[in-house]
Amino acid sequence: MFRTRRLRKNENIRRLVRETSLSVNDFIYPLFIEEGVNIETEIASMPGIKRFSLDKLSKELDEVSALKIPAVLLFGIPAKKDDTGSETWNDEGIMQQAVRFIKKNYPNLYVITDVCFCEYTSHGHCGIIHNHDVDNDATLPNIAKQVVSHAKAGVDMVAPSGMMDGTIETIRQALDDTGFYDLPIMGYSVKFASAFYGPFRDAADSAPAFGDRRTYQMDPANRNEGLREATYDDVEGADILMVKPALSYLDIIRDLKNNFDKPIACYNVSGEYAMIKAAAEKGWIDGERVMMESLLSMKRAGADIIITYFAKEVAKLLNK
Ligand code: PBG
Repeated sequence: MFRTRRLRKNENIRRLVRETSLSVNDFIYPLFIEEGVNIETEIASMPGIKRFSLDKLSKELDEVSALKIPAVLLFGIPAKKDDTGSETWNDEGIMQQAVRFIKKNYPNLYVITDVCFCEYTSHGHCGIIHNHDVDNDATLPNIAKQVVSHAKAGVDMVAPSGMMDGTIETIRQALDDTGFYDLPIMGYSVKFASAFYGPFRDAADSAPAFGDRRTYQMDPANRNEGLREATYDDVEGADILMVKPALSYLDIIRDLKNNFDKPIACYNVSGEYAMIKAAAEKGWIDGERVMMESLLSMKRAGADIIITYFAKEVAKLLNK
């Protein structure tokens, strides 16, 4: 008889043959930063996650640093929106202020900015609208202005999430032309038009006012197209390739891992977080174990980096 159970006898032997493990080094923690003062608002559908104004952010950053989480991913929520999202390239905008604040007070924390427009446009879409759709090529110059403004504020890495064609090429060129040739890009390379972003859109106030994002984000049914998307980002110069969401797209994560020799990231999105939190609150699942098992599955699928709202919780467990 083939006896596979021999190596499962006790925890010590299981530890020795364990193929995958999580480390605090794997995680990026997203932060929602709102323009204004005295804001610390819990997001109803994301228990434990809040929107902060800068004057209220230090406690959160102290915690992230103490837990030795290497990086944060910033989302800005501006006080005013317009049809182009012009606040995104305002050097005094909320994102730019946040980058300067964190780099000054927490120089060891690695700061990544989400580069997009949906939180900044009155219509909630990820670029300029022409004929009821986002105009790809009209949006690109604004992406360039946005990243250069983030770079001047001192960001460590930029992460464009808008799914416009030519984004990585545009950003690399803009950064190189302004002397920021050392600033890396993490592409939201394979980003699906997903219902799992629901809670995030409440959190970031970024739901589209009309239509949906299916003309720019990918069809959840497609796998080969994911490889094409990743290939273009790779060739255009992305330093890290990301898959988003994570749990329903573990096959895509593995595809990227097998086909590219760049670090692969995945984004464990708001809806994935909310489902576990809600079921755990009802007592229907063991929230902590389900969290660990899902994060482990992302790592096993091939993710080198996991962006997750669970980062603080999982770091607490791993640091024990
Ligand atoms: C776009 C962006 C979104 C998320 C991250 N960046 C939302 C969207 O595409 O509608 C979703 C993240 C999450 O659900 O946790 N700026």
